[in-house]
Amino acid sequence: MGIFDRLKGKKPQATGKNMPVPRHIAVIMDGNGRWAKKRGLPRKAGHKVGAETFRTIATYCKDIGVQYFTVYAFSTENWKRPQDEVDALMNLFRTYLREAAETMVARGVAVRVLGDLSVLPEDIRRQIDEVHALADTLGENAATASLCINYGGRDEIKNAVRALAKQVQDGTLKPEDITEDSISQNLYTAHMPDPDLIIRPSGEIRTSNFLLWQSAYSEYYFTDVLWPDFSTQDMDAAIADFNRRSRRFGGV
Ligand code: FPP
Repeated sequence: MGIFDRLKGKKPQATGKNMPVPRHIAVIMDGNGRWAKKRGLPRKAGHKVGAETFRTIATYCKDIGVQYFTVYAFSTENWKRPQDEVDALMNLFRTYLREAAETMVARGVAVRVLGDLSVLPEDIRRQIDEVHALADTLGENAATASLCINYGGRDEIKNAVRALAKQVQDGTLKPEDITEDSISQNLYTAHMPDPDLIIRPSGEIRTSNFLLWQSAYSEYYFTDVLWPDFSTQDMDAAIADFNRRSRRFGGV
């Protein structure tokens, strides 16, 4: 802000660098298709720019002190999209993920992939292993950016229930010892706190099967901005809005 704005009494806008930030922010990266359509481009062009936005915003989050940043990149339902769009997204994971992870690890961001990875093409799974090996070099206290691929909240809870049921069947767990904590510990997000803030760009107002269990007390922030256009200023606006909320977690 310049000297004239200050003389006119305008207050400097708080940015993520000088305001408290949530520990865990999650984003439903929506609006890539519409962003591309508006420009007469194929939908895959929107996903490509969306992937670049992921790198920029994840790195910004780390720089302002957000410990965990989690995004929804491909849902268990996205397989229903036209085959050429599914192929384009798989190719993006194939060509971009490892390269992005390398630059992000160099900036101190550990990239991890969450979801049912068992059905992904073998070469992508190998690259994800490499991305995780890179993340491990930063140690467990590093800021983490997680990409949810073939992720579905219901599918995740179903898998957790199956794992616990198996322990009951094996006689290693009593049904009465199943707790909210033991369910949390069997989710893909076992190693991280629940999201404080979930952002959905593009004007849609629904959760779309994202972090169903973990979002019980998350604050939601909706904006009309399309994900490929989402900027660090948009992130600051979301955090500022979050900072004005009163979180009571069911108390008074
Ligand atoms: C939703 O927008 C977006 C997706 C289904 C894909 C999101 C994936 C990425 C941004 C790629 C990330 C990849 C890496 C390697 C970081 P939409 O297609 O539903 O948009 P629309 O609602 O405007 O049609």
